[in-house]
Order: sequence, then C-alpha cells, then structure tokens
Amino acid sequence: MRVLGIETSCDESGVAIYDTKLGLMSDVLYSQVAMHAEYGGVVPELASRDHVRRLLPLIRESMQQAATAREQIGGIAYTAGPGLVGALLVGAAVGRSLAWGWGLPSIGVHHLEGHLLAPMLEDNPPPFPFIALLVSGGHTLLISVTGVGQYNVIGESLDDAVGEAFDKTAKLLGLGYPGGPVLEQTAKRGDPSRFKFPRPMTDRPGLDFSFSGLKTFAMNTLHANEMNEQTKADIALAFQTAAVETLAIKCQRAIRETGIKQLVVAGGVSANNALRVRLNALAVKERARVAYPRLKFCTDNGAMIAYAGCLRLLAGEREPPRFEARARWPIDTLTAL
Ligand code: KG4
Ligand code: ZN
Repeated sequence: MRVLGIETSCDESGVAIYDTKLGLMSDVLYSQVAMHAEYGGVVPELASRDHVRRLLPLIRESMQQAATAREQIGGIAYTAGPGLVGALLVGAAVGRSLAWGWGLPSIGVHHLEGHLLAPMLEDNPPPFPFIALLVSGGHTLLISVTGVGQYNVIGESLDDAVGEAFDKTAKLLGLGYPGGPVLEQTAKRGDPSRFKFPRPMTDRPGLDFSFSGLKTFAMNTLHANEMNEQTKADIALAFQTAAVETLAIKCQRAIRETGIKQLVVAGGVSANNALRVRLNALAVKERARVAYPRLKFCTDNGAMIAYAGCLRLLAGEREPPRFEARARWPIDTLTAL
C-alpha cells in the first residue's frame, strides 16, 4: 500500500509518500519559521493561511519526487490533532477532499503517534514493548508502549512542555524563535561551572515533570547578573543541562520501574544533541537500547504521518465521510491495533 501523508498541525507543512514495500519514497517540507520569526512565535491564523498556500504545490512535488501517479496511491493520511485547530483543518480539508475526489480511504492521524512511530522509519527499528519519551513544543510524555495504539501514559508535564521551556528561555535571552536549536548552539559557549539550575520534581517519587520553574529560574538568574553574551551562554547551558538531566532521571526511573529496556525518544527536543549524549550514557548504564528518529524526523514532518496512517489503513481503519480536528486529544484513548 502507498500512502500520501499530510502534516499541518503547527508551523510546518509536510507531505510524504510511504510505501509498504519500498519504504519512504518522498518527503517534502515547508517551514514557516521565517514568517513567524518577526512575531517571536507562531501566529495561528497566519499559520493556517500559509498551509493553504503551500499544501497543493507540496503534494505535487512529493508525487513527482516519488514518481507516483495518483492511481498508485492507496490512501491519504493527515494529522487530525492535537495542534492548532485552524492549521489542522487545512490539512484535514485537503486530505479528505483528495481522498473523496480520488475515491480513496483516508485516515486522521494523531500527531503524537506520528512522532512516537517516527523511529520505525530507521534501520533496526525498536521492538515492542518500549518506553517512549515524547518531547515536543506542546507535550512532555513518558509512555509505556506495548504495540501500535497501545499507549499507557506513565508520566507527563504538569505545566510547560520541555520544548516550550526551551522556547521561552530562548526568548528571554533574546535568542529568537524557534528557541530550541538556537539555545542549544548558544549553550556550547557556556561555562558549566557558573550556574546550577534545579532538577524539578526529581526529589520526589513519580514520573511527572514540571518545566515552568526552570524558565523562571533562568529569568531570576538573568536579572541578578550582568547581561552580556557570556551570561546568556552560561544561562543557556545551565538551563539545558537541568532540562536534560531531569528528563534522564525520569527515563531511568521509568526503565527501572517497568523493567522495559528499550527507550524511544521522539519529538522536536529529541534533536538536541546534549539530550542524546546523556540518554546514550544512561542506556549503557541500564543495559538498555535507545532509538531516535533521524534529525529531520524529530521535528514535524509528513513522513511520520504517512507511516502511522499507513499502519492504520492497513489494519482496516476507515473514516466516516465527516471529518474533525481536535485541539486536544489524549493519546491514551486511541484504539489498539
Ligand atoms: O515536534 P515539534 O517540531 O513540534 C511539536 O509537535 O511541538 O517540536 C518543536 C519543539 C520546539 O519547542 C523546539 O524549540 C524544540 O522542539 N526543539 C529543540 C531542538 N530542536 C527543536 N529543543 C531543544 N534542542 C533542539 N535542538
Ligand atoms: Zn510535533
């Protein structure tokens, strides 16, 4: 089966074609970062309008790249949520209309299931069961995964997502948007001995997270010190180290508590190299394996949606003619395959 996947949940328009025999055949992406940068963050209405502009050209490009005619496509997958509802509706409307026009089945994919299954697109995909650490701009989740659609949330952030904390701290330091990658670069010039930030919620049992305090800690540190390039780099490093260390401590707990020695890390923050280095070391210590998507599939992309949608279409899932998009959608309400 060959599936066209469409991702429009936030500020990236992604389109890809996945084939069960041939694997990923094309993957194209248009990032709206430059457009939102002057506002310091994503402007939802501008995002929706830009998805409208980009989507059809991207679909054509994706089909060309895969040398695929529409008769060769067996189904359409699009991100149905969670995300910005206007942006989601653009992908949903285009996906459903194409499917209707071409006489194909379509499926609305859960964005986080897409992220979570993205490592399956790599060589040596992780076997079930595994612990998934899902770290994006909107979510921080620890999930015990026993199969596709079998997701048991065992830990989550009680306030800001870790990606959001990266973004807010970067903004505070005047580093711009999106904050994660630029904060990581800035942290490379930081002095690790200057500041030590707390590791929130690691001094009590449990697998939940809280990241809003780290951002406040960064703000107070900034105000208490002379604001210059070195101070910014030192704060960036202290923040990143604390965030990474906190995630690692909870992953270690999750591995020990469940006895599952396979970790999957996905979502935008899984592109962070300091996090990867720390979790690789943890895996060695715990005699566990850790899997990540390739860097460009850590952040939003069409490939993960094509792939996750393909699995569900293959399992016979079909949508009724009406369509919906959900700004909120708990991942543990999905049907098990
Ligand atoms: O998965 P994603 O593209 O979108 C959501 O589903 O939210 O994740 C975006 C988030 C942003 O908060 C961004 O700052 C963060 O991932 N991010 C990073 C890095 N690259 C992206 N955070 C830390 N280090 C990075 N290298
Ligand atoms: Zn995402």
